Amino acid sequence: MLFWRVKPLEKILETAEKKALTRQLGAFQLTMLGIGAVIGTGIFVLTAEAGQKAGPGLMIAFVIAAVVCALAALAYAELASMIPVSGSAYTYTYGVLGELLAWIVGWALVLEYAVAAGAVAVGWSGYMNGLLNSAGFGLPEALQVGPQAGGAFNLLAFLISLVVTGLLVLGTSKSAWVNAILVSLKIVALILFIAVSVPAAKDANFQPFLPTGWGSPMGGIGVLGAAASIFFAYVGFDAVSTAAEETKNPNRNIPIGLIGSLVICTLFYLLVGYGAVGSMGAQPLMDATGAALAPGSTEFAAACALPEHAEALVCSHEPLAHVLRVLGFAGLGNAIGIVAALALPTVILMMIFGQTRIFFTMSRDGLLPQWLAKVHPKFHTPHRITLITGIFVALFGAMFPVGILADISNSGTLFAFIMVAVGVLVLRVKQPNRPRPFKTPLAWPICILAIAGCLLLFVNLSGYTIALFFGWAVIGLVVYYLYGYRRSHMIPGNEPPDDGESMPPEPKFHEGPQA
Ligand code: ALA
Repeated sequence: MLFWRVKPLEKILETAEKKALTRQLGAFQLTMLGIGAVIGTGIFVLTAEAGQKAGPGLMIAFVIAAVVCALAALAYAELASMIPVSGSAYTYTYGVLGELLAWIVGWALVLEYAVAAGAVAVGWSGYMNGLLNSAGFGLPEALQVGPQAGGAFNLLAFLISLVVTGLLVLGTSKSAWVNAILVSLKIVALILFIAVSVPAAKDANFQPFLPTGWGSPMGGIGVLGAAASIFFAYVGFDAVSTAAEETKNPNRNIPIGLIGSLVICTLFYLLVGYGAVGSMGAQPLMDATGAALAPGSTEFAAACALPEHAEALVCSHEPLAHVLRVLGFAGLGNAIGIVAALALPTVILMMIFGQTRIFFTMSRDGLLPQWLAKVHPKFHTPHRITLITGIFVALFGAMFPVGILADISNSGTLFAFIMVAVGVLVLRVKQPNRPRPFKTPLAWPICILAIAGCLLLFVNLSGYTIALFFGWAVIGLVVYYLYGYRRSHMIPGNEPPDDGESMPPEPKFHEGPQA
Protein backbone atom coordinates (compact mmCIF):
# COMPACT_ATOMS: atom_id res chain seq x y z
CA MET A 1 0.00 0.00 0.00
CA LEU A 2 2.85 2.39 0.84
CA PHE A 3 4.32 2.41 -2.66
CA TRP A 4 1.20 1.84 -4.69
CA ARG A 5 -0.32 3.70 -7.61
CA VAL A 6 2.96 4.99 -8.97
CA LYS A 7 2.04 7.30 -11.82
CA PRO A 8 4.26 6.50 -14.81
CA LEU A 9 6.58 9.39 -15.59
CA GLU A 10 5.51 9.22 -19.22
CA LYS A 11 1.94 9.84 -18.12
CA ILE A 12 2.94 12.76 -15.91
CA LEU A 13 4.89 14.36 -18.71
CA GLU A 14 2.03 13.75 -21.12
CA THR A 15 -0.69 15.29 -18.94
CA ALA A 16 1.48 18.30 -18.22
CA GLU A 17 1.14 21.26 -20.49
CA LYS A 18 3.71 21.31 -23.21
CA LYS A 19 5.29 24.62 -22.53
CA ALA A 20 8.37 24.32 -24.75
CA LEU A 21 10.21 27.08 -22.99
CA THR A 22 13.26 28.49 -24.65
CA ARG A 23 16.53 27.83 -22.88
CA GLN A 24 17.62 31.34 -22.11
CA LEU A 25 18.78 31.48 -18.50
CA GLY A 26 22.51 31.49 -17.80
CA ALA A 27 24.45 31.07 -14.55
CA PHE A 28 24.26 34.77 -13.65
CA GLN A 29 20.50 35.05 -14.15
CA LEU A 30 19.94 31.85 -12.20
CA THR A 31 22.03 33.16 -9.32
CA MET A 32 20.03 36.41 -9.31
CA LEU A 33 16.79 34.45 -9.47
CA GLY A 34 17.90 32.41 -6.45
CA ILE A 35 18.92 35.47 -4.46
CA GLY A 36 15.66 37.22 -5.30
CA ALA A 37 13.55 34.28 -4.19
CA VAL A 38 15.52 33.61 -1.02
CA ILE A 39 16.08 36.95 0.72
CA GLY A 40 12.97 37.84 2.70
CA THR A 41 11.46 37.44 6.13
CA GLY A 42 14.15 35.01 7.20
CA ILE A 43 16.94 37.54 7.34
CA PHE A 44 14.79 40.64 7.86
CA VAL A 45 12.78 39.20 10.77
CA LEU A 46 13.88 35.76 11.96
CA THR A 47 17.34 37.01 12.91
CA ALA A 48 15.74 38.02 16.22
CA GLU A 49 14.20 34.57 16.66
CA ALA A 50 17.52 32.88 15.92
CA GLY A 51 19.16 35.18 18.49
CA GLN A 52 16.67 34.06 21.14
CA LYS A 53 17.41 30.44 20.29
CA ALA A 54 21.18 30.53 19.92
CA GLY A 55 22.53 33.94 20.99
CA PRO A 56 25.62 34.91 18.95
CA GLY A 57 25.82 31.25 17.86
CA LEU A 58 23.13 32.16 15.32
CA MET A 59 25.98 32.68 12.89
CA ILE A 60 26.80 28.97 13.02
CA ALA A 61 23.09 28.25 12.54
CA PHE A 62 23.14 30.23 9.27
CA VAL A 63 25.97 28.05 7.96
CA ILE A 64 24.40 24.72 9.00
CA ALA A 65 21.08 25.62 7.38
CA ALA A 66 22.86 26.71 4.20
CA VAL A 67 24.77 23.42 3.91
CA VAL A 68 21.57 21.37 4.33
CA CYS A 69 19.85 23.53 1.72
CA ALA A 70 22.70 23.15 -0.75
CA LEU A 71 22.61 19.36 -0.45
CA ALA A 72 18.83 19.21 -0.79
CA ALA A 73 18.92 21.64 -3.70
CA LEU A 74 21.31 19.45 -5.69
CA ALA A 75 18.94 16.50 -5.28
CA TYR A 76 15.91 18.65 -6.08
CA ALA A 77 17.47 19.86 -9.31
CA GLU A 78 17.80 16.35 -10.76
CA LEU A 79 14.08 15.61 -10.44
CA ALA A 80 13.12 19.14 -11.44
CA SER A 81 15.05 18.74 -14.69
CA MET A 82 13.68 15.25 -15.40
CA ILE A 83 10.07 16.07 -14.53
CA PRO A 84 9.73 19.74 -15.40
CA VAL A 85 6.03 20.02 -14.57
CA SER A 86 4.01 21.83 -11.96
CA GLY A 87 3.45 20.35 -8.54
CA SER A 88 7.16 20.04 -7.65
CA ALA A 89 7.88 17.54 -4.86
CA TYR A 90 4.28 16.27 -4.95
CA THR A 91 4.50 15.35 -8.63
CA TYR A 92 8.00 13.87 -8.34
CA THR A 93 6.87 11.67 -5.48
CA TYR A 94 3.79 10.55 -7.43
CA GLY A 95 6.03 9.45 -10.28
CA VAL A 96 8.55 7.66 -8.11
CA LEU A 97 7.08 6.54 -4.80
CA GLY A 98 3.36 6.40 -5.53
CA GLU A 99 0.12 8.08 -4.61
CA LEU A 100 -0.02 7.70 -0.86
CA LEU A 101 3.39 9.26 -0.26
CA ALA A 102 2.69 11.86 -2.93
CA TRP A 103 -0.49 12.80 -1.13
CA ILE A 104 1.39 13.16 2.16
CA VAL A 105 4.01 15.31 0.44
CA GLY A 106 1.30 17.46 -1.19
CA TRP A 107 -0.39 17.79 2.16
CA ALA A 108 2.95 18.77 3.76
CA LEU A 109 3.50 21.33 1.02
CA VAL A 110 0.45 23.18 2.34
CA LEU A 111 2.60 23.82 5.36
CA GLU A 112 5.54 24.83 3.18
CA TYR A 113 3.59 27.32 1.11
CA ALA A 114 0.44 28.54 2.84
CA VAL A 115 1.91 28.69 6.33
CA ALA A 116 5.08 30.28 4.99
CA ALA A 117 2.97 32.94 3.29
CA GLY A 118 1.42 33.64 6.70
CA ALA A 119 4.90 33.91 8.24
CA VAL A 120 6.02 36.40 5.62
CA ALA A 121 2.81 38.40 6.13
CA VAL A 122 3.59 38.66 9.85
CA GLY A 123 7.17 39.66 9.01
CA TRP A 124 5.84 42.37 6.72
CA SER A 125 3.47 43.66 9.38
CA GLY A 126 6.40 43.92 11.84
CA TYR A 127 8.16 46.35 9.52
CA MET A 128 5.00 48.23 8.54
CA ASN A 129 3.97 48.68 12.15
CA GLY A 130 7.50 49.88 12.94
CA LEU A 131 7.26 52.47 10.17
CA LEU A 132 3.77 53.60 11.22
CA ASN A 133 4.85 53.81 14.87
CA SER A 134 7.87 55.91 14.07
CA ALA A 135 5.72 58.20 11.91
CA GLY A 136 3.30 58.63 14.82
CA PHE A 137 0.44 56.76 13.13
CA GLY A 138 0.79 53.47 15.01
CA LEU A 139 -2.19 51.12 15.24
CA PRO A 140 -3.48 50.18 18.70
CA GLU A 141 -1.10 47.62 20.31
CA ALA A 142 -3.78 44.92 20.22
CA LEU A 143 -3.92 45.15 16.42
CA GLN A 144 -0.16 45.08 15.85
CA VAL A 145 0.53 41.45 16.80
CA GLY A 146 -1.42 38.24 17.31
CA PRO A 147 -2.60 36.80 20.64
CA GLN A 148 0.54 34.80 21.51
CA ALA A 149 2.75 37.82 21.01
CA GLY A 150 0.73 39.90 23.47
CA GLY A 151 -1.85 41.44 21.09
CA ALA A 152 -5.21 40.29 19.77
CA PHE A 153 -5.24 40.35 15.98
CA ASN A 154 -2.42 41.16 13.58
CA LEU A 155 -4.45 43.44 11.34
CA LEU A 156 -1.76 44.32 8.80
CA ALA A 157 -0.72 40.68 8.27
CA PHE A 158 -4.39 39.87 7.69
CA LEU A 159 -4.90 42.72 5.24
CA ILE A 160 -1.74 42.22 3.18
CA SER A 161 -2.60 38.54 2.71
CA LEU A 162 -6.04 39.48 1.39
CA VAL A 163 -4.63 42.17 -0.90
CA VAL A 164 -2.09 39.75 -2.37
CA THR A 165 -4.83 37.13 -2.78
CA GLY A 166 -6.97 39.67 -4.62
CA LEU A 167 -4.08 40.45 -6.97
CA LEU A 168 -3.58 36.74 -7.67
CA VAL A 169 -7.27 36.27 -8.41
CA LEU A 170 -7.08 39.14 -10.88
CA GLY A 171 -4.11 37.43 -12.48
CA THR A 172 -1.45 39.97 -11.64
CA SER A 173 2.01 38.85 -12.53
CA LYS A 174 5.18 40.45 -11.39
CA SER A 175 7.03 42.14 -14.18
CA ALA A 176 10.63 41.17 -14.73
CA TRP A 177 11.71 44.75 -14.15
CA VAL A 178 9.90 45.04 -10.83
CA ASN A 179 11.56 41.80 -9.79
CA ALA A 180 15.02 43.06 -10.73
CA ILE A 181 14.46 46.34 -8.89
CA LEU A 182 13.26 44.59 -5.74
CA VAL A 183 16.23 42.21 -5.73
CA SER A 184 18.59 45.18 -6.05
CA LEU A 185 16.80 47.07 -3.28
CA LYS A 186 17.02 44.12 -0.91
CA ILE A 187 20.73 43.73 -1.61
CA VAL A 188 21.41 47.46 -1.18
CA ALA A 189 19.47 47.43 2.12
CA LEU A 190 21.54 44.54 3.44
CA ILE A 191 24.80 46.17 2.30
CA LEU A 192 23.83 49.40 4.08
CA PHE A 193 22.98 47.47 7.22
CA ILE A 194 26.34 45.68 7.11
CA ALA A 195 28.25 48.91 6.43
CA VAL A 196 26.76 50.59 9.50
CA SER A 197 26.54 47.73 11.97
CA VAL A 198 29.77 45.78 11.37
CA PRO A 199 32.12 48.67 12.30
CA ALA A 200 30.08 49.13 15.50
CA ALA A 201 30.69 45.50 16.60
CA LYS A 202 32.27 44.97 20.02
CA ASP A 203 33.94 41.76 21.19
CA ALA A 204 32.00 41.81 24.46
CA ASN A 205 28.74 41.41 22.58
CA PHE A 206 29.81 37.95 21.39
CA GLN A 207 30.20 36.63 24.96
CA PRO A 208 28.95 34.07 25.84
CA PHE A 209 28.99 32.79 22.27
CA LEU A 210 26.79 29.73 22.79
CA PRO A 211 24.55 30.65 25.74
CA THR A 212 22.05 27.87 24.95
CA GLY A 213 24.52 25.23 23.69
CA TRP A 214 23.87 23.10 20.61
CA GLY A 215 20.32 22.12 21.53
CA SER A 216 18.61 18.79 21.87
CA PRO A 217 16.04 16.89 19.81
CA MET A 218 12.56 18.47 19.95
CA GLY A 219 13.99 21.24 22.11
CA GLY A 220 13.69 23.93 19.43
CA ILE A 221 16.53 25.82 21.05
CA GLY A 222 20.34 26.04 20.81
CA VAL A 223 22.39 26.32 17.63
CA LEU A 224 20.60 23.41 15.94
CA GLY A 225 17.19 24.73 17.00
CA ALA A 226 18.13 28.09 15.50
CA ALA A 227 19.37 26.36 12.32
CA ALA A 228 16.02 24.56 12.03
CA SER A 229 14.23 27.93 12.20
CA ILE A 230 16.63 29.96 10.09
CA PHE A 231 16.33 27.31 7.38
CA PHE A 232 13.33 29.43 6.43
CA ALA A 233 15.69 32.19 5.36
CA TYR A 234 16.98 29.95 2.53
CA VAL A 235 13.67 28.52 1.35
CA GLY A 236 12.91 29.65 -2.17
CA PHE A 237 16.17 28.50 -3.76
CA ASP A 238 14.11 25.72 -5.37
CA ALA A 239 13.08 28.46 -7.80
CA VAL A 240 16.48 27.79 -9.38
CA SER A 241 15.88 24.03 -9.62
CA THR A 242 12.47 24.51 -11.15
CA ALA A 243 13.90 26.77 -13.82
CA ALA A 244 15.96 23.85 -15.14
CA GLU A 245 13.81 23.68 -18.25
CA GLU A 246 14.63 27.24 -19.19
CA THR A 247 18.32 26.98 -18.54
CA LYS A 248 21.11 26.85 -21.07
CA ASN A 249 23.50 23.98 -20.34
CA PRO A 250 21.66 22.98 -17.13
CA ASN A 251 24.32 20.53 -16.01
CA ARG A 252 26.76 23.36 -15.56
CA ASN A 253 24.52 26.32 -14.82
CA ILE A 254 22.04 24.81 -12.35
CA PRO A 255 24.66 23.86 -9.75
CA ILE A 256 26.38 27.22 -10.26
CA GLY A 257 23.06 29.04 -9.81
CA LEU A 258 22.08 27.01 -6.78
CA ILE A 259 25.36 26.99 -4.97
CA GLY A 260 26.20 30.53 -6.10
CA SER A 261 22.99 32.00 -4.74
CA LEU A 262 23.27 30.02 -1.52
CA VAL A 263 26.91 31.06 -0.98
CA ILE A 264 26.11 34.72 -1.65
CA CYS A 265 23.06 34.65 0.65
CA THR A 266 25.05 32.85 3.35
CA LEU A 267 27.79 35.51 3.19
CA PHE A 268 25.19 38.27 3.44
CA TYR A 269 23.42 36.50 6.29
CA LEU A 270 26.66 35.94 8.18
CA LEU A 271 27.67 39.57 7.84
CA VAL A 272 24.19 40.76 8.83
CA GLY A 273 24.22 38.36 11.78
CA TYR A 274 27.71 39.52 12.78
CA GLY A 275 26.67 43.18 12.54
CA ALA A 276 23.42 42.70 14.47
CA VAL A 277 24.99 40.61 17.24
CA GLY A 278 28.23 42.59 17.41
CA SER A 279 26.65 46.04 17.53
CA MET A 280 23.80 45.28 19.93
CA GLY A 281 24.36 41.88 21.50
CA ALA A 282 21.80 39.10 21.06
CA GLN A 283 21.66 37.31 24.38
CA PRO A 284 18.49 35.24 24.84
CA LEU A 285 15.95 36.13 27.54
CA MET A 286 15.98 33.44 30.21
CA ASP A 287 13.36 32.24 32.67
CA ALA A 288 13.92 31.95 36.44
CA THR A 289 15.61 28.56 36.01
CA GLY A 290 18.13 29.95 33.52
CA ALA A 291 16.53 28.28 30.47
CA ALA A 292 15.94 30.35 27.33
CA LEU A 293 12.29 31.32 26.85
CA ALA A 294 10.65 29.89 23.74
CA PRO A 295 10.27 32.65 21.15
CA GLY A 296 6.63 33.11 20.20
CA SER A 297 5.40 32.01 23.64
CA THR A 298 3.29 34.22 25.88
CA GLU A 299 6.04 34.06 28.54
CA PHE A 300 8.51 35.41 26.02
CA ALA A 301 6.11 38.19 25.01
CA ALA A 302 5.66 39.08 28.70
CA ALA A 303 9.44 39.22 29.24
CA CYS A 304 9.83 41.41 26.16
CA ALA A 305 7.20 43.81 27.55
CA LEU A 306 9.43 44.60 30.57
CA PRO A 307 11.03 48.04 30.27
CA GLU A 308 14.57 46.66 30.71
CA HIS A 309 14.12 44.61 27.52
CA ALA A 310 12.61 47.41 25.47
CA GLU A 311 15.70 47.54 23.25
CA ALA A 312 16.58 43.83 23.21
CA LEU A 313 17.35 42.63 19.68
CA VAL A 314 15.70 39.26 20.32
CA CYS A 315 12.36 40.99 21.06
CA SER A 316 12.23 43.13 17.95
CA HIS A 317 9.66 42.47 15.21
CA GLU A 318 11.82 44.44 12.77
CA PRO A 319 15.33 43.62 13.97
CA LEU A 320 17.40 45.16 11.16
CA ALA A 321 15.58 48.50 11.30
CA HIS A 322 15.67 48.34 15.11
CA VAL A 323 19.46 47.88 15.23
CA LEU A 324 20.03 50.91 13.04
CA ARG A 325 17.62 53.04 15.05
CA VAL A 326 19.34 52.05 18.31
CA LEU A 327 22.73 52.82 16.76
CA GLY A 328 21.45 56.34 16.05
CA PHE A 329 20.65 55.98 12.35
CA ALA A 330 16.88 56.37 12.49
CA GLY A 331 16.61 57.49 8.85
CA LEU A 332 18.51 54.43 7.59
CA GLY A 333 16.44 52.20 9.87
CA ASN A 334 13.29 53.58 8.28
CA ALA A 335 14.77 53.13 4.80
CA ILE A 336 15.38 49.44 5.55
CA GLY A 337 11.81 49.25 6.84
CA ILE A 338 10.55 50.70 3.56
CA VAL A 339 12.56 48.17 1.53
CA ALA A 340 11.16 45.31 3.61
CA ALA A 341 7.65 46.73 3.23
CA LEU A 342 8.09 46.92 -0.56
CA ALA A 343 9.83 43.60 -1.10
CA LEU A 344 8.13 41.15 1.25
CA PRO A 345 4.67 41.18 -0.40
CA THR A 346 6.21 39.60 -3.51
CA VAL A 347 7.42 36.70 -1.35
CA ILE A 348 3.84 36.30 -0.04
CA LEU A 349 2.63 36.37 -3.63
CA MET A 350 5.02 33.64 -4.72
CA MET A 351 4.10 31.46 -1.76
CA ILE A 352 0.32 31.72 -2.25
CA PHE A 353 0.81 31.18 -5.96
CA GLY A 354 2.91 28.07 -5.25
CA GLN A 355 0.19 26.74 -3.00
CA THR A 356 -2.55 27.20 -5.57
CA ARG A 357 -0.41 25.37 -8.15
CA ILE A 358 0.04 22.37 -5.84
CA PHE A 359 -3.70 22.22 -5.05
CA PHE A 360 -4.48 22.64 -8.71
CA THR A 361 -2.27 19.70 -9.65
CA MET A 362 -3.69 17.52 -6.85
CA SER A 363 -7.19 18.33 -7.97
CA ARG A 364 -6.33 17.55 -11.59
CA ASP A 365 -5.12 14.15 -10.36
CA GLY A 366 -8.49 13.57 -8.73
CA LEU A 367 -7.14 13.71 -5.16
CA LEU A 368 -9.02 16.95 -4.42
CA PRO A 369 -12.41 17.98 -5.84
CA GLN A 370 -12.36 19.25 -9.42
CA TRP A 371 -14.58 22.06 -8.26
CA LEU A 372 -11.62 23.64 -6.53
CA ALA A 373 -9.58 23.91 -9.69
CA LYS A 374 -12.21 25.78 -11.70
CA VAL A 375 -10.57 28.56 -13.66
CA HIS A 376 -12.30 31.95 -13.67
CA PRO A 377 -13.82 32.65 -17.11
CA LYS A 378 -12.63 36.23 -17.20
CA PHE A 379 -9.42 36.32 -15.15
CA HIS A 380 -8.18 32.84 -16.19
CA THR A 381 -6.98 32.15 -12.65
CA PRO A 382 -7.97 29.33 -10.29
CA HIS A 383 -9.96 31.82 -8.21
CA ARG A 384 -11.67 29.41 -5.81
CA ILE A 385 -8.48 27.74 -4.69
CA THR A 386 -6.73 31.10 -4.50
CA LEU A 387 -9.45 32.65 -2.34
CA ILE A 388 -9.65 29.70 0.03
CA THR A 389 -5.85 29.63 0.38
CA GLY A 390 -5.70 33.39 0.85
CA ILE A 391 -8.30 33.40 3.62
CA PHE A 392 -6.38 30.75 5.53
CA VAL A 393 -3.10 32.59 5.03
CA ALA A 394 -4.72 35.79 6.32
CA LEU A 395 -6.00 34.01 9.43
CA PHE A 396 -2.63 32.35 10.09
CA GLY A 397 -0.98 35.74 9.80
CA ALA A 398 -3.51 37.42 12.07
CA MET A 399 -3.32 34.87 14.86
CA PHE A 400 0.20 33.38 15.07
CA PRO A 401 3.72 34.69 15.65
CA VAL A 402 6.17 34.68 12.76
CA GLY A 403 8.61 32.21 14.30
CA ILE A 404 5.99 29.56 14.97
CA LEU A 405 4.64 29.86 11.43
CA ALA A 406 8.15 29.69 9.97
CA ASP A 407 8.95 26.57 12.01
CA ILE A 408 5.74 24.84 10.94
CA SER A 409 6.48 25.74 7.34
CA ASN A 410 10.01 24.35 7.71
CA SER A 411 8.67 21.02 8.98
CA GLY A 412 6.69 20.57 5.74
CA THR A 413 9.57 21.73 3.55
CA LEU A 414 12.10 19.44 5.26
CA PHE A 415 9.77 16.48 4.84
CA ALA A 416 9.28 17.27 1.15
CA PHE A 417 13.05 17.59 0.62
CA ILE A 418 13.64 14.24 2.28
CA MET A 419 11.16 12.60 -0.08
CA VAL A 420 12.77 14.27 -3.08
CA ALA A 421 16.25 13.01 -2.10
CA VAL A 422 14.82 9.51 -1.57
CA GLY A 423 13.09 9.82 -4.95
CA VAL A 424 16.37 10.64 -6.73
CA LEU A 425 18.00 7.51 -5.37
CA VAL A 426 15.00 5.26 -6.09
CA LEU A 427 14.86 6.51 -9.66
CA ARG A 428 18.59 6.00 -10.13
CA VAL A 429 18.03 2.34 -9.29
CA LYS A 430 14.70 1.84 -11.06
CA GLN A 431 15.32 3.83 -14.22
CA PRO A 432 19.09 4.28 -14.51
CA ASN A 433 19.00 5.03 -18.23
CA ARG A 434 16.31 7.65 -18.21
CA PRO A 435 17.64 10.97 -19.59
CA ARG A 436 18.65 13.36 -16.82
CA PRO A 437 19.18 16.91 -18.11
CA PHE A 438 20.81 17.62 -14.75
CA LYS A 439 22.52 14.86 -12.79
CA THR A 440 23.19 15.35 -9.09
CA PRO A 441 26.96 15.03 -8.73
CA LEU A 442 28.00 12.17 -6.39
CA ALA A 443 24.30 11.36 -6.07
CA TRP A 444 24.52 8.69 -3.37
CA PRO A 445 26.61 10.58 -0.82
CA ILE A 446 24.92 13.90 -1.61
CA CYS A 447 21.36 12.52 -1.31
CA ILE A 448 22.13 10.53 1.83
CA LEU A 449 23.71 13.61 3.42
CA ALA A 450 20.73 15.70 2.31
CA ILE A 451 18.34 13.25 3.98
CA ALA A 452 20.46 13.18 7.14
CA GLY A 453 20.75 16.99 7.22
CA CYS A 454 17.01 17.50 6.76
CA LEU A 455 16.30 14.94 9.47
CA LEU A 456 18.75 16.68 11.81
CA LEU A 457 16.98 20.00 11.34
CA PHE A 458 13.55 18.39 11.54
CA VAL A 459 14.20 16.77 14.93
CA ASN A 460 15.60 20.04 16.25
CA LEU A 461 12.34 21.87 15.66
CA SER A 462 10.31 22.29 18.85
CA GLY A 463 8.25 19.36 20.11
CA TYR A 464 5.17 21.54 19.51
CA THR A 465 6.03 21.98 15.82
CA ILE A 466 6.82 18.31 15.32
CA ALA A 467 3.55 17.30 17.00
CA LEU A 468 1.65 19.72 14.76
CA PHE A 469 3.35 18.25 11.70
CA PHE A 470 2.32 14.72 12.59
CA GLY A 471 -1.18 15.87 13.58
CA TRP A 472 -1.48 17.52 10.16
CA ALA A 473 -0.24 14.33 8.46
CA VAL A 474 -2.87 12.25 10.29
CA ILE A 475 -5.63 14.65 9.19
CA GLY A 476 -4.24 14.32 5.68
CA LEU A 477 -4.42 10.54 5.79
CA VAL A 478 -8.05 10.70 6.90
CA VAL A 479 -8.88 13.12 4.08
CA TYR A 480 -7.07 10.84 1.63
CA TYR A 481 -8.96 7.81 2.80
CA LEU A 482 -12.29 9.62 2.61
CA TYR A 483 -11.70 11.25 -0.75
CA GLY A 484 -8.59 10.75 -2.90
CA TYR A 485 -8.30 7.04 -2.28
CA ARG A 486 -11.62 6.50 -4.07
CA ARG A 487 -11.55 9.39 -6.53
CA SER A 488 -7.99 9.14 -7.80
CA HIS A 489 -7.69 9.32 -11.56
CA MET A 490 -5.28 6.41 -11.32
CA ILE A 491 -8.27 4.13 -10.75
CA PRO A 492 -9.51 2.73 -14.08
CA GLY A 493 -12.82 4.36 -14.92
CA ASN A 494 -12.01 7.51 -12.93
CA GLU A 495 -10.30 9.23 -15.83
CA PRO A 496 -10.50 13.02 -15.86
CA PRO A 497 -13.71 14.50 -17.26
CA ASP A 498 -13.49 15.95 -20.74
CA ASP A 499 -13.98 19.45 -19.45
CA GLY A 500 -11.02 19.09 -17.04
CA GLU A 501 -9.32 22.36 -16.40
CA SER A 502 -5.99 23.04 -17.99
CA MET A 503 -3.29 24.85 -16.13
CA PRO A 504 -3.79 28.62 -16.18
CA PRO A 505 -0.94 30.70 -17.54
CA GLU A 506 1.96 31.15 -15.21
CA PRO A 507 3.09 34.56 -14.04
CA LYS A 508 6.67 35.12 -15.10
CA PHE A 509 8.49 35.28 -11.79
CA HIS A 510 11.93 34.62 -12.98
CA GLU A 511 12.65 36.28 -16.23
CA GLY A 512 15.68 38.45 -16.44
CA PRO A 513 15.14 42.18 -16.96
CA GLN A 514 16.02 41.78 -20.60
CA ALA A 515 13.03 39.54 -21.17
N1 ALA B 1 13.40 32.62 2.24
C1 ALA B 1 12.18 33.33 2.23
C2 ALA B 1 12.13 34.34 3.30
O1 ALA B 1 13.02 34.38 4.11
C3 ALA B 1 11.02 32.41 2.36
O2 ALA B 1 11.20 35.10 3.35
